[in-house]
Amino acid sequence: MTASSQTICIFGGTGFIGHQIVRELAGKGYRIKVAGRVPERIFDLKPCGAVGQIVPVACDYRDEESVRHALAGCDAAVNCIGILYEKGKAARFDRIHTQLPAQIARICEEEGVERFIHLSALGVDKASSRYAKSKLAGEEDVLKAFPKATILRPSVVFGPGDNFFNMFAKIAVISPALPLIGGGQTKFQPVYVGDVSDAVRLAITMPAIGENNPQGKIYELGGPDILTFKDIYEELFKQTGRKKALINLPWGIAALQGGLMNVFLPNPPLTADQVCTLKTDNIVSEGALTLANLGILPTSMSTILPTYLARFKPGGRFHSKNQERQAS
Ligand SMILES: NC(=O)c1ccc[n+]([C@@H]2O[C@H](COP(=O)([O-])OP(=O)(O)OC[C@H]3O[C@@H](n4cnc5c(N)ncnc54)[C@H](OP(=O)(O)O)[C@@H]3O)[C@@H](O)[C@H]2O)c1
Repeated sequence: MTASSQTICIFGGTGFIGHQIVRELAGKGYRIKVAGRVPERIFDLKPCGAVGQIVPVACDYRDEESVRHALAGCDAAVNCIGILYEKGKAARFDRIHTQLPAQIARICEEEGVERFIHLSALGVDKASSRYAKSKLAGEEDVLKAFPKATILRPSVVFGPGDNFFNMFAKIAVISPALPLIGGGQTKFQPVYVGDVSDAVRLAITMPAIGENNPQGKIYELGGPDILTFKDIYEELFKQTGRKKALINLPWGIAALQGGLMNVFLPNPPLTADQVCTLKTDNIVSEGALTLANLGILPTSMSTILPTYLARFKPGGRFHSKNQERQAS
């Protein structure tokens, strides 16, 4: 079957990773149904494909028939729905990371969808945060409902539009100092969003036979660089030309601050639960299936970060050229 004859449903296509997956699959010629709560946000994705190639589908996740309607006639489905913190009754970890993926997986099975790719997160089997526990329970329930599902667990994901490097770069523009939570020694293995979307595409297309069959497997997605939180700040300072002081924030104080931010801010940059997640290293486990098992050579941060962090330099993207001109 060719890509152009296949339809893929993407849940969470309006998000950072989902958007890249839509672009990747559209570029390969798939017909894409993007399911989401707010149709206006999905319409913004239409330029990623040719006329009629990307079909927005309004989805009310409380209504099972709405999810079934989104999946009807699809060959594969991808779930990129996720939240970083809980807010109100609608955005609770158990609902978004456990019940919802299990519901989508069950309906995929009932509707005869061939493949289901579920985005989880690296370290959910080790961290003791509520975020991690809800993600791990989601993986287990997805595999129970759809045993052929492929689970992808990325480390922190970087790329234009990410919510990690961009957020700290924005803070560095206005703040004289940045917090080193718990001493900043937690390790990360940042992975490029383009490699994550490649992994999704390959999990859809790789043959369902032999040892490379991706179905029913869990892949841990990390990039080529392993860095501590402190190293990540140093990389950020290098890329943005903004050297800031680093202030050690002990775990207890960080958790207290995070707890207050979660209560008082609509989009908290830190929560107590995230502080709990940060206590565990976020790196690929020994013996895990990785990007290499999908035939992907991971992209380094040094190749990609300059393409979108240069705009945070004191004089903007053309910082050094401006300085040279003024000096002459
Ligand atoms: N980004 C990372 O560094 C990273 C690292 C590890 C794992 N992951 C996982 O990868 C997946 C995608 O991450 P991302 O960075 O692309 O996230 P994102 O940019 O925050 O996008 C989240 C998506 O989830 C949808 N969503 C949020 N709350 C929802 C709700 N209450 N009901 C239904 N849909 C809801 C959003 O749709 P609307 O447009 O309707 O709001 C959006 O499409 C998530 O599962 C995340 O946990 C991400």
